[in-house]
Amino acid sequence: VRRTPLIAGNWKMNLDHLQAIAFVQKLAWSLKDAGHDFTAVEVSVFPPFTDLRSVQTLVSADKLPLAFGGQDVSEHESGAYTGEISATFLAQLECRYVIIGHSERRTLHGETDEQVAGKVAAALAHNLSPIICVGETAEDLEVHGASAVPVAQLRAALANVTSAADIVVAYEPVWAIGSGQAATPEQAEQVAAALRAVLVEVLGEDVAAKTRILYGGSVKSSNIASFMREPNVDGALVGGASLDVAEFASIVRYQK
Ligand code: G3H
Repeated sequence: VRRTPLIAGNWKMNLDHLQAIAFVQKLAWSLKDAGHDFTAVEVSVFPPFTDLRSVQTLVSADKLPLAFGGQDVSEHESGAYTGEISATFLAQLECRYVIIGHSERRTLHGETDEQVAGKVAAALAHNLSPIICVGETAEDLEVHGASAVPVAQLRAALANVTSAADIVVAYEPVWAIGSGQAATPEQAEQVAAALRAVLVEVLGEDVAAKTRILYGGSVKSSNIASFMREPNVDGALVGGASLDVAEFASIVRYQK
């Protein structure tokens, strides 16, 4: 099974809506100018919620071959949840993906495995493809090794997923996020293989073989190719390096 690589740029709390428009325009044009085949390596950006409408308008007006999505979603359908954004809202803005369970949500906002599972279910109910983030802290790594925590987090996140679901998994070791200290490709492959084994067990061979597993944590243009050579790594979730058009475009163009 051939899995189309996905390069995803998580902007986190950066770029206001005017900057978002300029960024998306520049990114699309620089990739088009370089002759990028968007069907060979898929590209998605994850702006703040307040930028999504601008990005949607631009992408649809200019027919840009870029996907986009939210950085989080509520597990609830609607109601008295001040500050939350529903999967319905994201689907109406033509989001294709939504990031769920990022370590910053888990750590800074106390997001639990149960909430992550609820959010995954909410996303799937609205045909959004969840990018389920898992990863161990430096302490977890020391105490339990690399795979135990990400494997447990993925199992928990899939608690409500029964059918052949369109999901993406992102392995992001917490110690590698924003630290400049990426995992080695071998470390990423080892955990990605363990995560694929969970997918086989929970969703079956066929779905597992089709599901993309991304690596995230200090990815840049100089190390992306080494991750992409690993058999179980199917793309990257990029933070800091996704905020620079030239750098992000050259990550997307890792084969060149
Ligand atoms: O979602 C992206 C990750 O948290 C990685 O961030 O590329 O800045 O290390 P980073």
